[in-house]
Amino acid sequence: MGSGAKAPSRTRQVLPWRLDCHVAAGDDGAAADELRRGLTAARPTIPARWFYDDRGCDLFVRITGLDEYYQTRAEQRILDDHMDDVVAAHGPSELVEIGSGAARKTRAILDAMERAGSLERFVPFDISPGMLAGSAADIAAAYPGTRVHAVAGDFSRHLSRIPRRRAGMARMVAFLGGTIGNLEPARRRTMMRRLARLLGPGDCLLLGTDLAHDPQVLVRAYDDAEGVTAEFNRNIVRHINSAFAGDADPDDFAHVARWNARASRIEMHLRVRRDIQWSIAGLGIVVPVEAGATIRTEISCKFTRESVEDLYRDAGLQLASWHPDPTGRYAVSVAVPS
Ligand code: AVJ
Repeated sequence: MGSGAKAPSRTRQVLPWRLDCHVAAGDDGAAADELRRGLTAARPTIPARWFYDDRGCDLFVRITGLDEYYQTRAEQRILDDHMDDVVAAHGPSELVEIGSGAARKTRAILDAMERAGSLERFVPFDISPGMLAGSAADIAAAYPGTRVHAVAGDFSRHLSRIPRRRAGMARMVAFLGGTIGNLEPARRRTMMRRLARLLGPGDCLLLGTDLAHDPQVLVRAYDDAEGVTAEFNRNIVRHINSAFAGDADPDDFAHVARWNARASRIEMHLRVRRDIQWSIAGLGIVVPVEAGATIRTEISCKFTRESVEDLYRDAGLQLASWHPDPTGRYAVSVAVPS
């Protein structure tokens, strides 16, 4: 911007949006260490973040349109049907969205806030600065007069960089998509406590959770007929190969989705079809995998109203309202500090 010496007057310039970036390509030693630890563990795992390179993001968008993957449509429907009531009950003027992605379902929330006349600021938080810049500009253009303050960061490290809530401005924090289910129980609790810390009196949390129901329907949502999810799963191998000079053939890995009833979760694994030595030069490791062995790539926990209430209680929150979709497969809920 630069302030020219000859500027005739110092009118305060209000930028329609800003982006604070706390992630940089190539700086992610912590993520590489976590990946190395996962791959060399007795039961190998790959953190789910490695799904999401550009191709993985495209594949995920295709997943959200599959007949079998009901979650995205169910959540959208709940937001369309219930946001006016939620906004009327809590009166938020600020929306903080964690994992905002392309900010598509965000609009259902912002529209409800705009209809209520309370919308002042939107704070999208996501790992991808590129996607954030695009969605911040789009939202700023679509909602003139609304401040957009985007924050690019990793939700396990940078939630504290979210701008302070302003006195007199009620905040709604949204964590949608069922992403809370991708975290192991201990990390899930930590995440919920961190989210709770973003809330002050009068604020609320909006959480999207997939629910436990018919295992067959659940498994199909993660093992579709067209094989898009299988390709999404195998793409993690491509991504690691290209990020760290690995040499595995993605076709040596078969997609496996299974229901773990004890843990109430879907698990995705890659089952190796033949004995391989996966050399990953950039991580300094060679991973031997025997034919038939599996690498776990994702967990996706499925909740009940009771287990969501437990999660809130542990984080010092309490359930304010529960909004299941008409089929009872998915729920959005609202919690407030207790
Ligand atoms: C949107 C990240 C929560 O767990 O359902 C979809 C990811 N993985 N199909 C989910 C996913 C396979 C998804 N999340």
